[in-house]
Amino acid sequence: MANNKTGFTSSFGVVMAAAGSAVGLGNIWRFPYICGQYGGAACLFVYLLFVFLIGMVLLMTEFVIGRRSGFAAEKAFPALYPKRPSWKLVGLFGVFTSFLILAIYLVISGWTVGYFWDSLTGKLASIGDGAFDAHFVQFSTSVWKPVVFLAIFLALNLIVVLGGVQKGIEKVSKLLMPFLLVLVIVLCVRALTLPGASKGIEYLFNPDFTKLTWEGILAILGQALFSLSVGMGAMIVYGSYIPRNNNILKNAAWITICDVLIAVLAGVAIFPAVFAAGQSPAGGPSLVYEVLPIVFNSMGSIGIVFSVLFFLLLSLAALTSAISLLEALTAWLHDRGMKRSVAAVLISAIELGLAVVVAYAYKRDGFDGGILSGFTPGGRNLFDWVDKFTGSYLPPIGAFFTVLFLGWVMKKEDIYDELSNHGVLKISWFKVFYYFLVRFLAPAALLVALVAGIFNS
Ligand code: TRP
Repeated sequence: MANNKTGFTSSFGVVMAAAGSAVGLGNIWRFPYICGQYGGAACLFVYLLFVFLIGMVLLMTEFVIGRRSGFAAEKAFPALYPKRPSWKLVGLFGVFTSFLILAIYLVISGWTVGYFWDSLTGKLASIGDGAFDAHFVQFSTSVWKPVVFLAIFLALNLIVVLGGVQKGIEKVSKLLMPFLLVLVIVLCVRALTLPGASKGIEYLFNPDFTKLTWEGILAILGQALFSLSVGMGAMIVYGSYIPRNNNILKNAAWITICDVLIAVLAGVAIFPAVFAAGQSPAGGPSLVYEVLPIVFNSMGSIGIVFSVLFFLLLSLAALTSAISLLEALTAWLHDRGMKRSVAAVLISAIELGLAVVVAYAYKRDGFDGGILSGFTPGGRNLFDWVDKFTGSYLPPIGAFFTVLFLGWVMKKEDIYDELSNHGVLKISWFKVFYYFLVRFLAPAALLVALVAGIFNS
């Protein structure tokens, strides 16, 4: 099949760009929190199983669909199976999911850039320990602040995507990802050398199987998918940029390893510091915007440096993920005949509007919310709805149909051909593992998780 688009230049470029997509807000604050909540090492064990047996299989599946078809999600499915063009609905579903994820991602990234700025100017350090929740509420519900920062963040994304696949995305990822690793290691060293740090390590790694509930298992599976950016076609787009002679299995394995590594290191950077400062771990936004500033304050004047480094880390991790979402949407319109630059600008403009609505809908429990937070159809405001749908429901649905397509619709020989680079690579693992996982285990696990998740909520 024809693939005459510009793609990534090397395996290293592929791994950095896709790891950039995978490593994001999900790794740095969601993963450590989930790990602490659902039994430490017990959770980690289940997470590793899910990530390698299901997440990585999906990553390879999306890469195969992308590289073989040469298209983004909507056109990729019908290109591989012209008999039933309606498979494009799975692609469109992914486009829809990406649209919503990018909107909420922009909002949270905007907060992060705002906190980076406040750390840099010293404003954050001047706030008293008891006032960080009020400060976060004031910031996140203000009319202009979240919008200004998310617009700056979106503009950075747009610049990179307009730079193109090689000179924009690949180049930026190759620069930022190694830098990110260094940043997180520096933060780990600081956290581990604080007095009282061991309690945080215990919280994170002490196995407690009693905390590993069904609800937890579903949350962990959802996290494994979300974290690898699979289930919405974004990796199909990156797959279409993988050079023909690259080894898909190796790429996917490295990407998965980077993703897990940064998530675990983020936990090691955060929890020991939280316990050392005498704080208790909170979930979601509170952890990053309310608890961590107290932790940085407790370190004295050097705390400002770590505060700047942490919010820089989070902003950059978010940037490479948001780039991949914007690219996925841009590539979708480009496949439909629109110029790349026009498509990128158009998508950005729509996302800006959507993100502002989502930002204004945010409400922190126990405080007044933004100007649209009073609009609560079905008992939830729009921020919480988008969060719920993008975090729990949509990715597993997209993932389910994607593995179904590969395992049951595509011909086995074609998949083999693509994974072995037309027979060049010896891939005896294919029959033993991959085909079984993609045909049976992954769809079954996703279905069980979805049904149980919907009934338990
Ligand atoms: N993986 C990202 C994170 O952990 C979030 C994400 C989910 C994503 N789906 C995506 C990023 C699709 C890019 C494309 O934060």
